[in-house]
Amino acid sequence: MVETLKPASSLKGRDFLSNLDLSPAEYRAVLETAHAMKRGDFRGQRPLEGQTLAMIFEKPSLRTRTTFEVAMNQLGGHAVNLSNAEIGLGTREPVHDIAMNLERWVEGIMARVYLHSTLEELAQYSSKPVINGLSDLLHPVQLLADYQTIEETFPNTQGLRVAYIGDGNNMANAHLQTAVLSGAKLTVATPRGYEPNAVILMEAIKLGANITLTHDPKAAAEEAQVLYTDVWVSMGQEAEASQKRKLKDFAGFQVNPAMLDLIDKNGIFLHCLPAHYGEEVVEEATLHRKSRVFDQAENRLHAQKALLYHLLS
Ligand code: CP
Ligand code: NVA
Repeated sequence: MVETLKPASSLKGRDFLSNLDLSPAEYRAVLETAHAMKRGDFRGQRPLEGQTLAMIFEKPSLRTRTTFEVAMNQLGGHAVNLSNAEIGLGTREPVHDIAMNLERWVEGIMARVYLHSTLEELAQYSSKPVINGLSDLLHPVQLLADYQTIEETFPNTQGLRVAYIGDGNNMANAHLQTAVLSGAKLTVATPRGYEPNAVILMEAIKLGANITLTHDPKAAAEEAQVLYTDVWVSMGQEAEASQKRKLKDFAGFQVNPAMLDLIDKNGIFLHCLPAHYGEEVVEEATLHRKSRVFDQAENRLHAQKALLYHLLS
């Protein structure tokens, strides 16, 4: 059945820099819209007719770049891609000037940046919504697609056993925040010295998230209903002298078929991609019957269509 899109929500005109920019009710609304987008409930409707999203990339991307552009097209609008080589954030011109130019031409800005503070500056100086397409601190749009994927197997995430294994990076931090909204029971296993951001952790716990930190990947994986991993070397860290040491420090944290045997028999495996095969994951794991990695990549499109609809329409 083709439904009519409802009028704009409380999210209209807001920024989305972190998962906790959403209240639990707004998070629910975005995910419900994401499921509806995927079902095709809004087929043929063009709620963002004539609207433009500027996309800024300081770092490479396959999924974020493609899915935001396709999402805008499918909603009736379009996207303009701005590589940092062209616009020079903070080098060719100041970040705040870029924000005060873009807001005159476009309805929204999506940016993938090194420093989270760059997003905050864009948001401060742009009257139009700014969306975090990944920063060194957080990757919130990814978590929307992740929980859409999780809900396809486990519709009720309250108390769901979710294990994140690997580096305490932007993905781990985004998981901590989203545990507040999803009600999942989150275990984060990292090697010593690679724990997630302490401020984000404390805030999530204060807001009622059920979070356990451990250094034991097997204990985290055992009986998990969702097992999640991400690269050990994130974008921008490739040249770090410590990389070799890092790979040694992560011994035992690789997701492989033996690790997937430890999780719940109906459990699922997720990875935001790109994968560094032979490091945090092997191909047998992404192709495993428990893997939902490519559904997860597909859901980037549906979840972001939902987000754009709520922020822009
Ligand atoms: N997962 C993700 O954000 O992929 P890209 O880096 O390809 O955008
Ligand atoms: N932690 C990874 C996520 C990529 C989607 C990175 O920042 O490179």
